[in-house]
Amino acid sequence: MKILVTGGAGFMGSNFIRYVLNKYPDYKIINLDKLTYAGNLENLRDIENNPNYTFVKGDIAKTEDVDRALGEGADVVINYAAESHVDRSILSPRAFLDTDIFGTYTLLEAVRAGKAKKMIQISTDEVFGMVHNVNEEFTEETKFDPSSPYSASKAGGDLMANAYWRTYKTPVIVTHSCNFYGAYQYPEKLIPLFVTNLLENKKIPVYGEGNQFREWIFTEDHCRAIDAILHKGEAGEVYNIGTRNRKANIEITKFILNYLGKDESYIEHVADRPGHDFGYAVNPDKLIGKLGWKPETNFEDGLAETIEWYKNNESWWKKLKSKEYQEYYEKNYASKK
Ligand code: NAD
Ligand code: DAU
Repeated sequence: MKILVTGGAGFMGSNFIRYVLNKYPDYKIINLDKLTYAGNLENLRDIENNPNYTFVKGDIAKTEDVDRALGEGADVVINYAAESHVDRSILSPRAFLDTDIFGTYTLLEAVRAGKAKKMIQISTDEVFGMVHNVNEEFTEETKFDPSSPYSASKAGGDLMANAYWRTYKTPVIVTHSCNFYGAYQYPEKLIPLFVTNLLENKKIPVYGEGNQFREWIFTEDHCRAIDAILHKGEAGEVYNIGTRNRKANIEITKFILNYLGKDESYIEHVADRPGHDFGYAVNPDKLIGKLGWKPETNFEDGLAETIEWYKNNESWWKKLKSKEYQEYYEKNYASKK
């Protein structure tokens, strides 16, 4: 099988490429990535010389780049490429529209033209808006109600995928996942930011009181979900990917503090994120019932493994936490209590 993975130099894309090359030695992967601040070829150092792997630098929103990456054609396009960080979308939405909407459209056009046989759109539970308690759940039928420029842009891409299926029968599958965690996550998201700050003896910025909750999935479990969808999913279908592992931010914060032997004085309650969604909770019953997937990683074990990875890979994250990056946080959060 020949797979075009977009955004493969990012967090989950790189984890997926490694997973596929290890599990399916005869599959070929082309990685099309623009190498934005979040794209990092170091994430793929261990597999870059694998003869089944090719890297193409390019933009999913440019037809010529997509055509160059697809070459003679592919069996499937898996679209991981996105601007993915909510806070950045609040500060500067434009790149989110370009990549998450226009980029998705450009890939759909390539599939519609027959340059790939199908497409899997990697999307988020954030398109559904928010739930107010851990017992409410988003199903595949829940209406989109996005809150941030990020989630509105992802919703735009997903709606376009749905429209291409209905209008042209372009074979596309959309997935809505809960929050990822694991190795190689850029240290701007909650877990890697807090772990790396604490490893540097710095404070950790909890937005508001930290009662908001998220649902968490370990990298390996998400890779296995996409594997199931790739091999058994049906065109035109939507699959939620969730674990029912729902945790308030403050619970995760305390787990990390405790694991690293730090006390709560490291917590700094900073200004809340504008338009902050209170909770996300995904109903994964369709994926479990129809495709036989289920999550396998216990959250505490996965989180401990993740923290250990950041402890052992300081050289990977230290250079990402540049002066500019620190200033970004100081300016937008730490100073706005
Ligand atoms: P990430 O930010 O770590 O990586 C994104 C990658 O896309 C980077 O390598 C970047 O260089 C690349 N990219 C950005 N714009 C591009 C463009 N125009 N053309 C080509 N490449 C481009 O992202 P992630 O956290 O690994 O998320 C991957 C996907 O999963 C995204 O689509 C995101 O919306 C979705 N998602 C993420 C989460 C999560 O918790 N991180 C949860 C659910 C869904
Ligand atoms: O739900 C899936 C989404 O999860 C993905 O679509 C996004 O790409 C991904 O970034 C993630 O979005 P979140 O906004 O949930 O992730 P983030 O790590 O930014 O924040 C998680 C929670 O932690 C959220 O309630 C905000 C809070 N938070 C975050 C940061 C960065 C803090 O309290 N302090 C922080 O410094």
